[in-house]
Amino acid sequence: MSFLVDLICTKTAQPYPADELLNLSEEGAPLFARYDLDAVRSAVDRDALVDREPTMWRYAEVLPVVDPRFRVSLGEGYTPLMQTRALGEHIGVPHLLVKDEGLNPTGSFKARGLSAAVSRAAELGARDLAIPSAGNAGGATAAYSARAGLKSHIFMPQDVPVANLVESRALGADVQLVDGLISDCGRIVAERKSREGWFDVSTLKEPYRVEGKKTMGYELAEQMSWTLPDVIIYPTGGGTGLIGMWKAFAEMEELGWIGSDRPRMVSVQAAGCAPIVRAFEEGAHHAEPWEDARTVAAGLRVPSAVGDFLMLRAIRDSGGCAVSVSDESLMAGVTEMAAFTGIFPAPEGGATLACLKSLLASGFVSERDRVVLFNTGSGLKYIDAFNVRGG
Ligand SMILES: Cc1ncc(COP(=O)(O)O)c(C=O)c1O
Repeated sequence: MSFLVDLICTKTAQPYPADELLNLSEEGAPLFARYDLDAVRSAVDRDALVDREPTMWRYAEVLPVVDPRFRVSLGEGYTPLMQTRALGEHIGVPHLLVKDEGLNPTGSFKARGLSAAVSRAAELGARDLAIPSAGNAGGATAAYSARAGLKSHIFMPQDVPVANLVESRALGADVQLVDGLISDCGRIVAERKSREGWFDVSTLKEPYRVEGKKTMGYELAEQMSWTLPDVIIYPTGGGTGLIGMWKAFAEMEELGWIGSDRPRMVSVQAAGCAPIVRAFEEGAHHAEPWEDARTVAAGLRVPSAVGDFLMLRAIRDSGGCAVSVSDESLMAGVTEMAAFTGIFPAPEGGATLACLKSLLASGFVSERDRVVLFNTGSGLKYIDAFNVRGG
């Protein structure tokens, strides 16, 4: 059962009801779900979670679906946290782990967010969902909508990885290709949604995708026996993964499941689209939109993010940093991670390894640190990227 209470504006802390289909707050900021964590503390023994189902729904008390019959699941979450000692020793960080999100349904961590958002949207009466997507979120929306019996309308850049397009169409979505970037797709959704009666499930413009993503943080703690690593390296576009985990850590501390230590949160972006890195370096609280965004890591081709201030806050509060890596080095990261670990990562996953190497060189990460890289998707979704490079 869920202990969801209400939603709060991430800028003003003004409360909003949780039983309505809502997008942003009046302030134009993301809404966060709030739970009765005192009640969860009494109801759930963290050490008894071990007997629960191996999906993200093992944390149902801190997820937004009130009636479990509305839960739309394809088995998402509870992905392995892999020991990767050979890779770690090779690069000089023996305590290296990879959380392999490529094993999720639809081949990426986007499954978590869309499982939560589609479930909750169906519970609150939505029939038609619309989403702008760099690729993987589109496939996940199509899959979960198909399972829930909802219609999905997906807007993707016309040069989206072909697997995302094929998969979304096969899953019955109404897919429209746009001559532009995800931000142009987002504008079309915003213009048409009221007329068409669509509920907009854009990243952080509805409150529940981030709830699904936060389960990566719960899992990490559970899989590390209720401790957290020293450093987390996460590829960020819209930023829900990083923001979600940061929210999870705060909730778990309030639940008494972990202490106050936090990992240094590192955002990695592609050099051809690095608005968060630039804002971090400039000491800004918001990121200016990135012009002429280009990168083979399609999920990182996000020129502006509505949750930019939340990402920047988490990175700074954790003592972390933001780093950009070139397409060449992130693709080299893919093949190096693959050859040493047996995981075939997405380019975004390869970026985390390229980032770690640069942080080792700069001294930000030391050989004693316990480091977790998030491989957010499967390399199999990006076969065209490898062909393009002749790899
Ligand atoms: C494989 C992969 N990694 C990372 C990201 C970035 O995720 P977010 O936009 O939640 O920061 C995406 C987004 O499309 C993705 O598909």
